[in-house]
Amino acid sequence: MADQYAQPREDKRPTEIPAIRWEEPPEGPVLVLLDQTRLPAEEVELVCTDASALVEAIHSLAVRGAPLLGIAGAYGVALAAARGFDVEEAAQALEGARPTAVNLSVGVRRARSAHRAELTRTGDPTAAATAALAAARTLHQQDAEASARMAAHGLALLDELLPGGGHRILTHCNTGSLVSGGEGTALAVALAAHRAGQLRRLWVDETRPLLQGARLTAYEAARHGMAYTLLTDNAAGSLFAAGEVDAVLIGADRIAADGSVANKVGSYPLAVLARYHHVPFIVVAPLTTVDPQTPDGASIEVEQRPGFEVTEVTAPQVPVAGAGGGIPVAPLGAQAYNPAFDVTPPELVTAIVTEEGAVSPVTAEVLAELCARSRQV
Ligand code: MRU
Repeated sequence: MADQYAQPREDKRPTEIPAIRWEEPPEGPVLVLLDQTRLPAEEVELVCTDASALVEAIHSLAVRGAPLLGIAGAYGVALAAARGFDVEEAAQALEGARPTAVNLSVGVRRARSAHRAELTRTGDPTAAATAALAAARTLHQQDAEASARMAAHGLALLDELLPGGGHRILTHCNTGSLVSGGEGTALAVALAAHRAGQLRRLWVDETRPLLQGARLTAYEAARHGMAYTLLTDNAAGSLFAAGEVDAVLIGADRIAADGSVANKVGSYPLAVLARYHHVPFIVVAPLTTVDPQTPDGASIEVEQRPGFEVTEVTAPQVPVAGAGGGIPVAPLGAQAYNPAFDVTPPELVTAIVTEEGAVSPVTAEVLAELCARSRQV
């Protein structure tokens, strides 16, 4: 058997990966995205000059992950305003681009409110566009700060739950600097453990069907020199059974008022495995991911994605075309079940770590208290 603890080959390229940035060239403002569909093969930038290009980038997952979707949504409104497009129409299209991550509508609404308020106050579209951009920049900055605070709270929680260090952490999907204004959510905690010399191994679920773990988390972990090992999602069970997992750390796309957590499909089975094997299952998410308007898990809209993502393997470099432009791996016409997310009930969640601290056990009351406390700050 290959040594799963072998050190991965070091990747010395810079660790700063700006997933999104606003630029103002002479031709007019643009939103520049690192195209995440092309990683890790190529670092290609995608330049959006209007909100519809950004909506397309959101659909294709060129830009993805809950906190980053919020930031992108806010900049998208600012872009529409700065380029003189219909801001309300752009906001509606952006908000509807993906349904599960509540951060997207939080970001869109913040920029739209700033725009509306300034337009009402001054009647000046330029001033209103400036206000929308300022709101987007603030959200971007706040997310970076939240990320650093979550990392610190998460590390403290790991120290408390697993004294002695040497953590072997399993993660799913991608939750690092590719999804954030800072270093991310769950991956930022793992990175803090790595920097503190307490990470023995990061287990990276490949995350079928779009491979956010294999393509993106492994890409980030390599740049940080973290000791990581990739596994297929269905190898997680035997890894738990072998006693090789000390904690599961994941992010969230929406946390309902009762503490139910929607995250990348495959998170719920990990929570069940973690409970069976007495391993902490920890969710790391900023408060912008907590949605008091969604009462429970059953009320969370789970995005259903096209079947070809399951029936074909997509590789942008290979010019073979199935219905989705990929290499068919199933018989022609095969039906596929392809929810992008699943929902973990609060009783399976050991703790939720936010920028305001960790809550455990996860109940509607403690979450409401946390949200109320953050509104007073
Ligand atoms: O479909 P994706 O790639 O946007 O899904 C992303 C996830 O599920 C992440 O785990 C979640 O957004 C949390 S990111 C901090």
